[in-house]
Amino acid sequence: MMYAAIMGYGTIGSGVAQILEESRERIANGAGQEIALKYVLDLRDFPDSPVADRIVHDFQVIESDEQVKLVVETMGGLNPAYPFVKACLNAGKHVVTSNKALVAAHGTELLQIARDKGVNFFFEASVGGGIPIIRTLYRCLRGEEIQEITGILNGTTNYILTKMDREGASFDEVLKEAQDLGYAERNPEADVEGHDTCRKIAILTAMVTGKEVNYEDIYTEGITKITDMDFRYAKEMGASVKLLGSSRRKGGEVCARVAPVMIGKDHPLYAVSGVYNGILVKSDMLGVSMYYGSGAGKLPTASAVVADMIEAAQNEQMNIPIGWGEQRQKVADIKTAECRYFVRIAGTFKEKADLIRRTFGEVRTFVLEGADEFAILTRKMSESEYEKQAAVLDDECRKSGGEGIRQRLRAELED
Ligand code: HSE
Repeated sequence: MMYAAIMGYGTIGSGVAQILEESRERIANGAGQEIALKYVLDLRDFPDSPVADRIVHDFQVIESDEQVKLVVETMGGLNPAYPFVKACLNAGKHVVTSNKALVAAHGTELLQIARDKGVNFFFEASVGGGIPIIRTLYRCLRGEEIQEITGILNGTTNYILTKMDREGASFDEVLKEAQDLGYAERNPEADVEGHDTCRKIAILTAMVTGKEVNYEDIYTEGITKITDMDFRYAKEMGASVKLLGSSRRKGGEVCARVAPVMIGKDHPLYAVSGVYNGILVKSDMLGVSMYYGSGAGKLPTASAVVADMIEAAQNEQMNIPIGWGEQRQKVADIKTAECRYFVRIAGTFKEKADLIRRTFGEVRTFVLEGADEFAILTRKMSESEYEKQAAVLDDECRKSGGEGIRQRLRAELED
């Protein structure tokens, strides 16, 4: 029998308690021993819940109970999650977390403490919710060199972009709807500004390179500036806009970024819609593989937590070598990254054709009926080259008294 505790009885924590209860026998068979929930730590009381008799308010109860060998952290945020998790590992307890902010900010240190103490620090649920991607990387793809990971890693923003695409709705309308449905947080900044995706791609990149990745080194752009006009052009182009977190190896560096990207119907992530997540992995032997499923939500995320609990119980006496070490991974300057650009420009192509040719060279052009603007799709170029040419174009438009660029999106589109 292995005694466990859950810290944080919110959506995911209560999901974990539910699965432990409902799938008790299956879990015991998988783990090789029964996992018994002894405590649930929360500031609140839950008198009508099935764990009412196990609620504690004092972390010391869990920390000092030597019978508790496995602790689940589903509180979210860094404080007090970080000191609590660190104390549990130092006390020789295995820890399983769903908290990407914690893993992205303190994963290096927590993984090292787990190694030193001969216990495990698992975090499958921190990326892609219920999709088994972390374990896929450290087990199934262990013998592969992974060259690229690109993912739709945030369910809330994918839901918003899908609705904008299919219904022509505005960003604000759909965000409100997502909040009413409980997908988006009341303060949705972490989702819509790309911070959540940034932490997730940082964790995946560290898993792949074996080195620490500072998420603050990753260029991050959210979806708040995407408009219905972008989707009108996208439709015309047989494309859609998705918030992608991506990381590619380039020599000893990685090119990593989070940004809304125009992708075509032939892109494997095009069909990942609604609250679903999808993660595309390119590796040297297997080639392209893709992982798809529920990236958020109570039971899908709790399922990943329970899988980690089973693995910890299976390996009660040993540390499974996962994650990364203290060496820092160099992230390439975003200015050197290359892609095509989708650019919306005020006025008519006819009046600006010469200027466009002088700045961006040969481009594909798109015109929407009744619009006071047009769009171009550039050739592949570096960010710094794009910025230089865009500044010239804007400047010349301003000099002649007009408006210039209204929108620019990165595009992964073939001709
Ligand atoms: N806010 C996150 C999302 C939850 O929408 O994907 C899962 O990390």
